Amino acid sequence: MADSTAPGQPGFTTITDPALYLDGIPHQRFAAMRATPGLVWHPYEDDGFWAVTRHAEVREVSKTAQVYSSAIGHTNLWDLEADALEARRSLIDTDAPDHTRLRRLVAGSFTPRNVRQWTETVREISAELLDRYLAGGGGDWVEQVAAPLPIRVILAMLGVPGEDADHLVELSNYLVEGTGDRQSIPADAFGNTTELRLLPFNSPASHALFEYAERLGGLRRDHPEDDLVSRLVAAVDDGERLSPNEYRNLFHLLIFAGNETTRTALTHGAMALADHPEQWARVVDGSVSVEVAGEEILRWATPVLHMRRTAAVDTTLAGTDIAAGQKVVMWYASANRDETVFDDPGSFDVGRVDNPHVAFGGGGPHLCLGAFLARLEITVLLEEMVARRMVLRRTGEPVRTRSNFVNGVLSVDFVPEVA
Ligand code: HEM
Repeated sequence: MADSTAPGQPGFTTITDPALYLDGIPHQRFAAMRATPGLVWHPYEDDGFWAVTRHAEVREVSKTAQVYSSAIGHTNLWDLEADALEARRSLIDTDAPDHTRLRRLVAGSFTPRNVRQWTETVREISAELLDRYLAGGGGDWVEQVAAPLPIRVILAMLGVPGEDADHLVELSNYLVEGTGDRQSIPADAFGNTTELRLLPFNSPASHALFEYAERLGGLRRDHPEDDLVSRLVAAVDDGERLSPNEYRNLFHLLIFAGNETTRTALTHGAMALADHPEQWARVVDGSVSVEVAGEEILRWATPVLHMRRTAAVDTTLAGTDIAAGQKVVMWYASANRDETVFDDPGSFDVGRVDNPHVAFGGGGPHLCLGAFLARLEITVLLEEMVARRMVLRRTGEPVRTRSNFVNGVLSVDFVPEVA
């Protein structure tokens, strides 16, 4: 067969077509790119990007933020006009010193020590969702367990009332659509009058989230509580620390990042454990800890498929010259299957001990802020499943998200049994 990694050659397929991911991650395609010396230039829209598919180079790009900028352009594949970039800019699309200032405002809430304080909240929500799932005989895992758990936890941290969770899950689903090539809601949905190009993910749902952030911020300004929104609003009022635009973009980012990603890990984890009952048995009988199993779930799921950077200066990576201004895209989905790093990377092994996966990014200043929180949610949910001796039996194929950015699953049905 022709080299399918070479643009212009027979057999070449793009890795950015969102429809490609409706069948799951194209692992063979990525394996061929990893085997190609240097970096592969991949066409995209009128231009293209350097595809970084090997683990070592994903780490190098992530850690060298002064060369590979998150602020020039932004961290998604497509280009933005200057005004759109400024309107949408958030923690994830900034470089130092702005990034350092913004990250400092929120980092304290996500340290292992502070995240651990949420253990009982995570456990109560997990127990409630699992008991209801068992009592109802199962059904769609995403809707009943994987989506509500992370959103309810991040909303609790932000200080958002629980009754708004469903609405915010709905908004988050529309945001993911915006990473694909079609949006199922009209541009004026939710009363939006802003041009879509000025909104994160080109989605009118972002307008609804911004409005929500402002309403809640107003409430907390008048009546501060011990929550993240109150702290952020206080930083806005302080003048220099956070602008009103930064506040609403940060709120938006925390809702999106704290929700869609963990949901995806919990869903792929459940599917993998259902499809590999012998692996789940190792967790249930205690021969593998939930922490070790959780890391394999993260590697296997790779909820965020890629992040983009833009070269700030001329540079060289893996022997390939990169010109200033060119896009460099790190494919975590590929690096997590790098055969030079992971033994038998295509097998799901809950006991994998040497597991330096890059599901949270390859290190450096942008490493996922919510990594400890996501890990807590995964491990507590597993503990509660073990406590119930719950076994999941899959009754259908997953409906996947049409996106080249998140490894999302819209729905998947199981029947739970008690072993
Ligand atoms: C399994 C769940 C999660 C996965 C796989 C994930 C993955 C990622 C990845 C790949 C990045 C980009 C890293 C980089 O560019 O170097 C990131 C950044 C980020 N994540 Fe997560 N994430 C998850 C959960 C969460 C949660 C629960 C939160 C909660 C608030 C969160 C908040 C963020 C934020 C704010 C950033 C931007 C950090 C920065 O630019 O400094 N994530 N995440």
